[in-house]
Amino acid sequence: METGELVMLKTFHKGKLREFIVTVSDDELHTDFGKVDLSLLLKLDIGDHISAHKGQEFVIQRPRMPDFFHHAKRTGAPMMPKDIGLIIAYTGLNKGDSVLDAGTGSGILAMYLGSIAKRVLSYEVRDNFAVVARKNVQNAGLDNVEVRFGNIVEEISSIGEKFDVVTLDTQDSNDVVPYVPAILNPGGFLVTYSPFFEQTKEIRDAIEAANFYDVRTIECSEREISFSERGTRPSTMRVGHTGFITIARA
Ligand SMILES: C[S@@+](CC[C@H](N)C(=O)[O-])C[C@H]1O[C@@H](n2cnc3c(N)ncnc32)[C@H](O)[C@@H]1O
Repeated sequence: METGELVMLKTFHKGKLREFIVTVSDDELHTDFGKVDLSLLLKLDIGDHISAHKGQEFVIQRPRMPDFFHHAKRTGAPMMPKDIGLIIAYTGLNKGDSVLDAGTGSGILAMYLGSIAKRVLSYEVRDNFAVVARKNVQNAGLDNVEVRFGNIVEEISSIGEKFDVVTLDTQDSNDVVPYVPAILNPGGFLVTYSPFFEQTKEIRDAIEAANFYDVRTIECSEREISFSERGTRPSTMRVGHTGFITIARA
């Protein structure tokens, strides 16, 4: 491996899975079960094992987006993978796409989109949230995701770029919608995420007034199946409501 590469070290300790995302460097990783000399990674590869000074062994893996989802610092409620998956599938996001995203929040959606698209530009109105999101993006090794501090309602008309997909996850998304057709490439998609029916209706009205095609609002339910000695059934741990996703095409 090379200096600067991101890797994940995984181990079982006292019956629990523990994982650490680290950079190949001269540093040390300090854990409650010993230090790991990260420069030793230079002579190792993905799938190899590395030991802490007290003998605890870790397997080396390449971190992927679900790992960054778990390890990223959070400033608020991030979008859930079930909803992100739906956005990626219904927009057909691909490696040639440019995406405009707001608000950034912890940057979870922006990072998932950035792991596929060519470029993601994301706006966050709270500067301290933007700082955390930038750090999360950097930790995920994504140099194609730009987090800008600013209010999307004020900024959208002067961005001066075109996008293939626009994702809006703010309370004032309906104020942004009228400006979206002018910055979407032909056939591009607008996606909004809104937790309440009332907000979703306001967004639908704004979309209706802005002449989009193929407008749909959907909710994605996720139900985990539990396996035990007694039997197999949907988990009794309830998965709550997250948000409604509205997709419209330019
Ligand atoms: C629910 S969070 C977004 C979560 C994000 N999609 C994620 O996956 O991590 C909403 C964010 O939008 C920001 N926000 C609200 N209004 C905004 C605006 N007009 N312009 C830019 N950001 C805004 C908030 O500060 C908050 O951080």
